[in-house]
Amino acid sequence: MDNYLNFIGGEWTDSKDGITNTQVNPANPSQIVGYTAAATVEEVDTAVQQAKLAFQQWKQLSPVGRGEILRKAADLLEAQSKDIAETATKEMGKRFIEMKGEVLRGAAILRYYAQEGMRKLGEVLPSANNQNTLYTLRVPLGVISVITPWNFPVAIPIWKIAPALVYGNTVVWKPSMEAGITAVKIAKVFEQAGLPAGVLNLVNGSGEIVGNALVEHPLTSAITFTGSNRVGRELASKAVAQNKKYQLELGGKNPVVVLEDADLDLAAKLTVEGAMKQTGQRCTATSRVYVEASIYDTFIEKLLENVTQIKVGDGLDDSVTMGPVASKKQFETVTSYIKKGIDEGAELLYGGNALYDPVYNGGYFVEPTIFANVTNGMTIAREEIFGPVLAVIKVADYADALTQANDTIYGLSASLFTTNLNKAFDFIKNSEVGMVQINGETGGAEPQAPFGGMKESSSGTREQGQAAMEFFTAYKTVSLTTSL
Ligand code: UN1
Repeated sequence: MDNYLNFIGGEWTDSKDGITNTQVNPANPSQIVGYTAAATVEEVDTAVQQAKLAFQQWKQLSPVGRGEILRKAADLLEAQSKDIAETATKEMGKRFIEMKGEVLRGAAILRYYAQEGMRKLGEVLPSANNQNTLYTLRVPLGVISVITPWNFPVAIPIWKIAPALVYGNTVVWKPSMEAGITAVKIAKVFEQAGLPAGVLNLVNGSGEIVGNALVEHPLTSAITFTGSNRVGRELASKAVAQNKKYQLELGGKNPVVVLEDADLDLAAKLTVEGAMKQTGQRCTATSRVYVEASIYDTFIEKLLENVTQIKVGDGLDDSVTMGPVASKKQFETVTSYIKKGIDEGAELLYGGNALYDPVYNGGYFVEPTIFANVTNGMTIAREEIFGPVLAVIKVADYADALTQANDTIYGLSASLFTTNLNKAFDFIKNSEVGMVQINGETGGAEPQAPFGGMKESSSGTREQGQAAMEFFTAYKTVSLTTSL
């Protein structure tokens, strides 16, 4: 069985203290996918030192040249999409079809940022003194700590690493332990694309040891993190204590509102997809649906028509439409929320069970689950579940729906199904989220558009598109005076 190493200063190195993490397949936990070498605190230090060293040269390269390496990485990633997607499916359970799409999305993000190397990096401003040329430049920050989750093991790392690199920063990357092998394969793609040694470093291991060492290291300039609110808060306070820039993309409790004038077939289809795609393990997943009382019963029927078509199983099987949850820990969390839903009096409309042997090989499978007659005070309507669980809530009218949809600590995305233009615009204005959909699913993101949330879903920064420049660069204001 392969042992996957860390990538530090252009070298593939085994763990100094010999500790490895065992990666098991969540669809069949008796199957070992491989081992990743756990970095030590000392190795994290070496990685940061190497990144700091590499920064001196990397920032001198033209952004156009840096973009060229990203473009090569995109082609290589695309060429290896089958292998990388398969690896990720085995490692964290996401269906192969979804993973393949994600790898291609990774290539699209790389191509977008390759071009970004040719776009403007500053602006000229008028000066009070006409002999002055007053302008701004966008300059890199230095070494960026990139800490990524397992649920988008390819796209999220790339949408952080690609802008970091094209704007001239270097990176030390700590992926989630549940996606460590996939991460090694991505780092190899960058190596093959000709990225100079030390520009991208990969350190596998736990958040407690490797993540902390990275965040606390005095030579890193900024931290970009996607993951839980609890860890995000800890990182933010450490970043503030050291006056480092930080970017957090955290949880969501994304609502869908369905009005009586909506295309109910479309709304039901996209609500179920939004809730169950990737087994509900997306920060943008639909987890609450507010339905006008007049169409409540009809809509419930339509939800059932959709959800009953879902076939649960190993994501390597093409006929399967929902894979396992990613790990034992996820399995325990999701099933405990389902139990809470039942205990607090929600009506279990569909699913709710874990799926056991012999067909499921002891894998971490949960049925797609829908609760009806949920109220906004119930735990399943308030906390992020990160699993295939949808709460249906009856509302009197649009105004009631908007109030309840906004009644949450989260603010990532929200969608409204309606054909009423006035209500659509009202929702765009008044839903307290970073991303609004009208007649669309709560999830999804295009590389050129800013991605991020409001309230506790985000640090207020935005990822992707040109918005990423705000985080990964600093302004330098230049005043150049001539005398002729
Ligand atoms: C998507 O909805 O396709 O961790 C992207 C997450 C988000 C990314 C969602 N940061 O689920």
